[in-house]
Amino acid sequence: MYTFKFDKGSNTAVLLSKVINLLSLKNQAIKNTLDYNISFNVIPVKGLDPAFENYRILHLSDLHIDAIADNATKLFNTIKKLSYNCCVLTGDYKFDAYNSNNDCCKTLMKTLIDKIDKQDGVFVVSGNHDPDEVIDYIANTNAHMLNNSAHSIIKNNARLNIIGVIDPVRRQTHDLAKATHYVTRADTNILLVHSPELVYDAVQYPVDIYLCGHTHGGQMCLPGNIPVQNRPGCERQFISGCWQYQHITGYTSRGVGTTGVTARFYCPPEITVHTLRRFKEPKYH
Ligand SMILES: [Fe+2]
Repeated sequence: MYTFKFDKGSNTAVLLSKVINLLSLKNQAIKNTLDYNISFNVIPVKGLDPAFENYRILHLSDLHIDAIADNATKLFNTIKKLSYNCCVLTGDYKFDAYNSNNDCCKTLMKTLIDKIDKQDGVFVVSGNHDPDEVIDYIANTNAHMLNNSAHSIIKNNARLNIIGVIDPVRRQTHDLAKATHYVTRADTNILLVHSPELVYDAVQYPVDIYLCGHTHGGQMCLPGNIPVQNRPGCERQFISGCWQYQHITGYTSRGVGTTGVTARFYCPPEITVHTLRRFKEPKYH
């Protein structure tokens, strides 16, 4: 039997847990949180160098890993079967941000990073649930913590830049100018941000692709994946899946884990594999 967890510091989570209990939906709610959908998403990229044609990126977001009901066993087994060139993690590794015990989160994150295939690296940004202790811990593993910085993957003299900014939701010390300082528009540039709302600023910088999470796709949805409520600061077009904003192609993951309560309805957890494909038009005229 799995443990049903809820964030005791959140009134909404306490109320939701009571409703789920009252309706005898606890077992189904937890079962849903482990029903991973693997999404294969193709991203057309203008000017993509042939060296990066069919380049695959494993994208995991909002793991809240210390609350995953089976201690992430199914997640570890699932990612083992996937093939990809690099991995990106777009924030929220901890479940309850205000619980000072970070040990379970750190142990499971270490196991996860150890299990990820690190051909071209694991690239990480912080989320609003992550205490500094967790972020510092992850930064000392084999992953690249991107704190307003970028890392270049070079193949045949072509560059794919992975750019990452600090969580803009809680920390608000994100700096797109600093993070993109060394990248050029001639390269293919992927920006990692915990949440979608920075896209309005990102269009002013050399960013082609924007990968994020934070919304959990609504987590508690009506049949047909219809979110019951919007996330503050997040327009509905950005709540899950792929989207376009001006020249930027973006993707919001529904997330691997859960926030507030270990429950999902009509909004399965997501493991995403993005594939880059050359868009047949010239990038600049
Ligand atoms: Fe989250």
